[in-house]
Amino acid sequence: MLLELVLSSAFVCVIRAVIIDREFLSNEYEVIKHAIESYLVFAKREILKHGGVNVQYYSWTTINIKKDVTAIFSIASCPDTWRLFRQARDANLLHMAISESDCPRLPPDEAITVPLITRGEELPQLLLDLRTRQTYNWNSAFILYDDTLSRDQVTRVVKSITAQYSNLRVNAAAISFVKLETRLPMDEIRRQVKEILSSVSIKTVGGNFLAIIGYELVELLMEYAKMFGLVNTRTQWLYIISNTHFRHKDINRFRQLLSEGDNIAFLYNNTVNNDTCTGGIQCHCEEILSGFTRALDEAILFEWETSSQVSDEEWEAIRPSKLDRRNSLLQGIKTFLLQRGQCDNCTSWLMKTGDTWGREYQQNGTDSGGLISVGNWRPSDGPSMSDELFPHIVHGFRKRNLPIVTFHNPPWQIIRSNESGAVSEYAGVIFELIKELSKNLNFTYTVELAKIGQEFSANLTKNEAQVVTNFIPDSILDMIRNKSVAFGACAFTVTEESKRLINFTSPISTQTYTFLVSRPRELSRALLFMSPFTGDTWLCLSASIVSMGPILYYIHKYSPVYEYKGLSKRGLSSVQNCIWYMYGALLQQGGMHLPQADSARIIVGAWWLVVLVLATTYCGNLVAFLTFPKIDIPITTIDELLAHSGTVTWSMPKGSYLERTLKYTTEPRFRYLFDKKVEVGNFKNMIEDIENGKHVHIDWKIKLQYIMKQQYLDSDRCDLALGLDEFLNEQLAMVVSQDTPYLEIINDEIKKLHQVGLIQKWLTDYLPKKDRCWKNNRHIVEVNNHTVNMDDMQGSFFVLFLGFLLSFFITIGEKLWHKYVTKKKMKIIQPFTT
Ligand SMILES: *[C@@H]1O[C@H](CO)[C@@H](O)[C@H](O)[C@H]1NC(C)=O
Ligand SMILES: *[C@@H]1O[C@H](CO)[C@@H](O)[C@H](O)[C@H]1NC(C)=O
Ligand SMILES: *[C@@H]1O[C@H](CO)[C@@H](O)[C@H](O)[C@H]1NC(C)=O
Ligand SMILES: *[C@@H]1O[C@H](CO)[C@@H](O)[C@H](O)[C@H]1NC(C)=O
Ligand SMILES: *[C@@H]1O[C@H](CO)[C@@H](O)[C@H](O)[C@H]1NC(C)=O
Ligand SMILES: *[C@@H]1O[C@H](CO)[C@@H](O)[C@H](O)[C@H]1NC(C)=O
Ligand SMILES: *[C@@H]1O[C@H](CO)[C@@H](O)[C@H](O)[C@H]1NC(C)=O
Ligand SMILES: *[C@@H]1O[C@H](CO)[C@@H](O)[C@H](O)[C@H]1NC(C)=O
Ligand SMILES: *[C@@H]1O[C@H](CO)[C@@H](O)[C@H](O)[C@H]1NC(C)=O
Ligand SMILES: *[C@@H]1O[C@H](CO)[C@@H](O)[C@H](O)[C@H]1NC(C)=O
Repeated sequence: MLLELVLSSAFVCVIRAVIIDREFLSNEYEVIKHAIESYLVFAKREILKHGGVNVQYYSWTTINIKKDVTAIFSIASCPDTWRLFRQARDANLLHMAISESDCPRLPPDEAITVPLITRGEELPQLLLDLRTRQTYNWNSAFILYDDTLSRDQVTRVVKSITAQYSNLRVNAAAISFVKLETRLPMDEIRRQVKEILSSVSIKTVGGNFLAIIGYELVELLMEYAKMFGLVNTRTQWLYIISNTHFRHKDINRFRQLLSEGDNIAFLYNNTVNNDTCTGGIQCHCEEILSGFTRALDEAILFEWETSSQVSDEEWEAIRPSKLDRRNSLLQGIKTFLLQRGQCDNCTSWLMKTGDTWGREYQQNGTDSGGLISVGNWRPSDGPSMSDELFPHIVHGFRKRNLPIVTFHNPPWQIIRSNESGAVSEYAGVIFELIKELSKNLNFTYTVELAKIGQEFSANLTKNEAQVVTNFIPDSILDMIRNKSVAFGACAFTVTEESKRLINFTSPISTQTYTFLVSRPRELSRALLFMSPFTGDTWLCLSASIVSMGPILYYIHKYSPVYEYKGLSKRGLSSVQNCIWYMYGALLQQGGMHLPQADSARIIVGAWWLVVLVLATTYCGNLVAFLTFPKIDIPITTIDELLAHSGTVTWSMPKGSYLERTLKYTTEPRFRYLFDKKVEVGNFKNMIEDIENGKHVHIDWKIKLQYIMKQQYLDSDRCDLALGLDEFLNEQLAMVVSQDTPYLEIINDEIKKLHQVGLIQKWLTDYLPKKDRCWKNNRHIVEVNNHTVNMDDMQGSFFVLFLGFLLSFFITIGEKLWHKYVTKKKMKIIQPFTT
């Protein structure tokens, strides 16, 4: 059968194929075909006023679609429908299909599919539709059903939930199946539900639950599921309630059973049971064809009007492509079905979902309900969703506003204000984390400020070294426990006592303790010329000079060589002279006389050898000491600190974790550290004491770094240094109330941020930047660029001066002696001798 109708203006020439599968319809075939033919005749006459349609009929589905076909209307089985669709897909055809039940619909943006559904058996199709639309995306499910799901439907439901459709990117799902016996007394049912749910473990069945149960059992099941911890932020519960209908459907009563963090959705029967309802294959055929012809007529009219306003060349350029035409026709039919579709429209289901996340913290009370409508389902056009079925799984907190509490505590929480005193910015490691959390979990936040620690101010760098508490103050504890805030955006120390009142998130950072000491100073170089030899070397040396003189003298004196040879003993004839001789030799200033006797010469020769060694060693060492500055011995470890306990005092922050831990330690050296600590009065004085090497302060490394930085900025000197020992790990974490369901998801986010290294990056961002004082922490000093200056030389000049003074006084002494001797000579009357 071939009908051809060419439009007056020849703009639109629609050829459509109507395919009616004879096998699929069997004995109804003739009736349906006749109905379609007569409806098309009617439609062409009554509806299609501006164009024509050319129809071809096929009674089997194995056909070749011609290229110039615009639309296909098929009535065929599910596999045949899909085969036809795939065949025609590339040709951008409009496909209208009527198919059997439990058939996945063709892609809604390319085709229209109407499954023929027996009334009361729509559940499998409904579940399949939701699944192919990815309304729920489960790869495992725990299904709990009761008598409302009849026996023959069970297998169909299972198939809808588990079957894999690769062309729709729907993967197979694993399911567990449990039937609930309901024809029992209430107590028995309770016991049964309890038994089933207590044996369920989320680990083994996955977190997706489908309960196909009667209206009466919903509350019971919700209660027990909550009791056994099966409802949380991760699990999804879909309740399918089929024994409600349009009069009896008070779903809102389940609202009070919803609590924070639940993901619970309800899908319930809203079917109207009355005589005016129509349905069946003929109804659908006529409805779709009617929609199609109307849409076609509109399209033709629109094209005709447009083309009459422009020139032929322009029209060629702007005329709609086949794809455009398909899309506009599809849209037209959909709108028609939505507004005027009557076939099977008595059957309908509604969807509601719990909007629970963050509700507890909405204090203004305008937030209505807790259950929101998210969509409906009809056989003819399938699900139409206005929101997600599980909105929190997809969108987290849905931009809810959560109140959080914080206080100024750098570098964790930094609150900045502008000139007018209003808070202008929240920063710090914790707030970087909160910003990331709010992005990932989709919430906004309002910050409440707890008045703790020092006031924040515009010129914050001044205050950044201050020490603020890391223990939970009572005001914050109360606010979190009474749920006036969602969580504490503060870094607190994780302690066992606090854990009893509040839950901590995973640690954000682990802080270690170390101590602040004065930087080892360069020693004075005045006595540099002394330093090549140690004290005892010097002592030995002077002893040997002093003793060598007399030795030489006596050897010289008792040597008979002089008498024997008749020589004079010349210069070495006194002990003094010998000592001077030896001293001169030491400084490599040879004496005037050399002993004549071999015995004395050997002594002198040996002395010269000693002098050679001494002088060379001294010179070499002196050069080395000129080049390397002499540094104090620093305190770098706890043991060294304890060893210096006589000269150095130490302190630690009052009430800190360190203090609390050391108080109960059994290790003797830490015990000693605790017992001997002193209280600090004035922070500024304490820093001065540290600089002078009299005091050591023990605290978090990070805080000490701030103090160092501050001191450097203030004085432009690096007088402070950190110890090398790091001890006692203190964990810092944010706090949430004990029954918050969100701890797990927050922890997961923190874990992710740790893994990608963001938290580490923030920590380094907020730590003081490295400066000069960090670098030469140890003895690294300029080595190869030291020019000898007055500092190095002053010692030798000083000796020269001493020598001068000494000789001056000795001159005076000699003078006086001379006078005395002369006077005495005059007094003594000389006996006159002849
Ligand atoms: C939905 O409700 C209607 C009317 O109460 C009933 O006839 C139909 O069987 C129900 N659907 C299912 C799947 O139970
Ligand atoms: C059928 O349903 C319609 C719309 O809900 C209603 O107006 C009509 O009275 C109902 N008819 C019967 C017989 O219940
Ligand atoms: C079915 O469609 C008709 C016409 O659009 C409408 O009047 C009627 O209320 C619909 N029935 C239901 C139950 O939605
Ligand atoms: C209540 O809170 C919501 C969400 O935070 C907000 O959109 C709304 O404006 C608030 N209403 C009032 C009256 O404060
Ligand atoms: C956050 O929630 C809003 C409101 O539900 C939603 O429109 C938005 O897409 C969500 N954002 C993300 C990233 O999920
Ligand atoms: C300070 O910040 C507040 C709040 O952000 C703002 O309203 C105010 O205009 C700012 N004042 C100045 C002087 O920038
Ligand atoms: C900022 O620092 C300056 C100088 O240290 C000080 O005089 C001023 O009071 C500080 N301002 C505030 C708001 O703390
Ligand atoms: C919670 O505790 C805080 C601090 O004690 C208090 O200010 C607030 O009013 C309390 N809120 C409720 C709802 O009890
Ligand atoms: C929260 O604190 C309670 C009480 O200390 C504890 O039983 C529970 O396990 C904690 N929750 C988590 C997730 O650690
Ligand atoms: C040595 O020090 C002088 C002045 O302190 C400086 O100008 C010069 O660059 C330094 N040389 C080296 C090699 O460090």
